[in-house]
Amino acid sequence: MGIIIHNASTILTMDPSMNGVGVINDSSIWIEGDKITALGSGDIEGANARPIDGSGCIVMPGLVDPHTHSIWAGSRSAEFEQRLAGANYSDILEQGGGILSTVAATRAASNSMLRHLCWQRLQQLRKSGVTTVEIKSGYGLTPKDEARCLEIAGAMPNSPKVYRTFLGAHTIPKEYRSDRGAYIQNIIEAQLPLAEPHADAIDVYCDKGAFTLEESLQILNAGRAAGLHIRAHAEQCSHTGIAAAAAQLGALALDHLEHAKESDIEAMASNGTFAVFLPGAQLYLKDSAPPTDAFREAGVPFAIGTDLNPGSSPIHSLWTAATLSCLLQGLNVEEALLGITRHAAEALGRQNIGWIGEGRTADLVVLRPPPGEPPIGAALIQHLGHPHVRMVIQDGDIVYKQ
Ligand code: NIG
Ligand code: FE
Repeated sequence: MGIIIHNASTILTMDPSMNGVGVINDSSIWIEGDKITALGSGDIEGANARPIDGSGCIVMPGLVDPHTHSIWAGSRSAEFEQRLAGANYSDILEQGGGILSTVAATRAASNSMLRHLCWQRLQQLRKSGVTTVEIKSGYGLTPKDEARCLEIAGAMPNSPKVYRTFLGAHTIPKEYRSDRGAYIQNIIEAQLPLAEPHADAIDVYCDKGAFTLEESLQILNAGRAAGLHIRAHAEQCSHTGIAAAAAQLGALALDHLEHAKESDIEAMASNGTFAVFLPGAQLYLKDSAPPTDAFREAGVPFAIGTDLNPGSSPIHSLWTAATLSCLLQGLNVEEALLGITRHAAEALGRQNIGWIGEGRTADLVVLRPPPGEPPIGAALIQHLGHPHVRMVIQDGDIVYKQ
């Protein structure tokens, strides 16, 4: 039996052949198996399908979170208090805290503990409407721990669909601090071969205090040769030149970009590279906004991620990230809605999700506007923290209802 969502007040299709977010009013959506089979105002009588009344509701594609670090163990809440008292994120990392403290806790955690923690985080994202999520490794930093995190992330039962990214180049672990070259070699020769069968992409954190431009390019080149998509934490806390260089290597998406320059933006525009904005990290690290206007003028499409992680962005809802991208980074409502759906899917190289149309995968979210608000996208973005999600449909199955 299929599903019919009938009389939906507003459908935000994100259809690329329509303007903006592709609004259709007072229409129905037919689902059979895992596909959307029709869209329109046809007769729903007599159909062998479960009816869902969409009146007063907004229906849009299942959300896509294109950047998370959802698999980790341990807590950094004491560090959050230190930062509130004035300590600096990079100094904490230098002293063996930050990412390194999460690495120690993750290495010490059992498979079942890591699986459970990651699963709980994905349930939270699902409740906010996410049907596809990117998850990075990067808190293992040994061949065994990187591969095990990716393997666990790829075997989450009853969860959003997972796209996996290998991030052995997240930071230099303690045991290699006196020999960076040996760690780069470990990533390329020992970690990558074990991680590659469990990964869709490779990522590097290229920054002051992290990996240099030269090291990052060496690692990305090795990942590309192994057949992985290329992505990078680019121009986050300082400018390194990785955005332009990785775009020229064919990066699918580059993330953060708070300190991107004109030359980066030009290279991204001419290579068709997506920008992924992460307003949570900007907020928690008190950083400046990316040059959004310059990206827009150059025609670089942007997506938005939660960057869910225990340090710089402990944000568990993609709606929160979307609202913050408008308030802190200058996106408009249409850009934010596209940024958590079709553009986020394209930033992961997924063309079959992120928009509603005949023949597309049936990943949908049915939303209620906040009390007294009209069923339009602006109301969803404006009201931070309101639980909009009434139902999540993934691959044609109702996976969450509220
Ligand atoms: O995306 N920039 C580096 N990586 C993460 C932070 C991870 C952490 O603090 O544990 C980020 O912001
Ligand atoms: Fe990140």
